[in-house]
Amino acid sequence: MSQGSLTRRSLARWRRPAAAAPSLDGVRSVLRHYRVELLWLVFAAVNYAAMIAWPDWETIPFHFVWISLTLVYGFRVWPLRPTLVVLAGVVAMTGLSIGLDAFRGIQLWGELCEVPLMAAMFVAMVWHARRRVEALEIAEHRAEERRSLLERQERFVHDASHELRTPMTIARGHLELLRAHGLQASEVDVALDELGRIDAILARLLLLANADQPDFVQTAAIDLESLLEDVFMRWAEVAPRSWRLGELAAGQLVVDVERLRSALDALLENAVKYSLPQSGIEVRARPGGPGCVAIEIEDEGCGVPEQALARIFDRFARADSARTRAAGGVGLGLAIVDAIAKAHGGVCTVQSKPGGSIFALCLPNFTPAAVTEPVAPAPPEVSW
Ligand SMILES: Nc1ncnc2c1ncn2[C@@H]1O[C@H](COP(=O)(O)OP(=O)(O)OP(=O)(O)O)[C@@H](O)[C@H]1O
Ligand SMILES: [Mg+2]
Repeated sequence: MSQGSLTRRSLARWRRPAAAAPSLDGVRSVLRHYRVELLWLVFAAVNYAAMIAWPDWETIPFHFVWISLTLVYGFRVWPLRPTLVVLAGVVAMTGLSIGLDAFRGIQLWGELCEVPLMAAMFVAMVWHARRRVEALEIAEHRAEERRSLLERQERFVHDASHELRTPMTIARGHLELLRAHGLQASEVDVALDELGRIDAILARLLLLANADQPDFVQTAAIDLESLLEDVFMRWAEVAPRSWRLGELAAGQLVVDVERLRSALDALLENAVKYSLPQSGIEVRARPGGPGCVAIEIEDEGCGVPEQALARIFDRFARADSARTRAAGGVGLGLAIVDAIAKAHGGVCTVQSKPGGSIFALCLPNFTPAAVTEPVAPAPPEVSW
């Protein structure tokens, strides 16, 4: 082994690796990214060539260069330094061409005024475009802030509800122990009732806080008719109202059945809570657009006042706080129905009528059952 090769090899260890050659994909992506600018560059170069080739007509390609530059800037807002460089370049090139032709007597000297005028038009466009970009950035920043605030609120509600459940369960346990040991004070019953109410509220708050989670709904295909019949029977047995089971659209609905039951329970609970005994409640389901079904619950209760319609789906919203408090509601039932409907890609709507209200839960992913044509009876056989 020669001394020279040894030295070269040892030197090679210290040599900086050669810069990687730009890959074809990299070049392609840069070209794709700057395609608007490149197209404009080609267009401007062609027009500049035309200015030089036909000096008598040069004001036409001159205007094309400036107008196209202004249009391009409307699509792409470059940083300030490249913008100034491009502006200076176009001013110099077009000014030089017109100035030389004016010097040679082909153009009027007055045409040279077009250069600062066009530059002023472009600067005005730059100002507008930059203002628009700044406004967009501010709006995006605010939206991001609002999103993160909402996320923090959701997390807080979730954590607080979760943390409150443990001490509340312990308190309930102690009260139940006291009752089991013979303490029959009515205060214990009241305290147990109130703790039960808090527990129900916390469970609902936890459910709402989880509504944005991807696993909030676990869907499967169910037979809608039998589910509605089942829910209807359960309620008709416990609440003394004039119950009616209306027309039920037959078919398969892809849905989280437990969540749907909770939503229907919340709607039926309201129908019962805000109506008098013996007043009517009807449950029905009809096809509501392609691939959708509308499950409707109509009651003959007090109805929702017009001014409250827009907000009753908000959390803790109550149309009439005095009456609702007396009925024991906190205003979370419809927020849950709304969250469940949205998690399925559906919506819940309300319609108030003089003697009651109609709540419609509209859900997608409904496949109506195939309509079977009634078989015409065979003509009687006639024998002669
Ligand atoms: N069927 C209905 N008839 C009349 N008003 C209704 C009906 N359903 C809801 N409302 C009004 O909408 C408000 C919000 O209903 P929601 O179910 O969210 O809360 P709530 O029933 O008061 O309490 P919660 O359901 O949490 O126990 C109610 O307070 C009530 O004023
Ligand atoms: Mg309710």
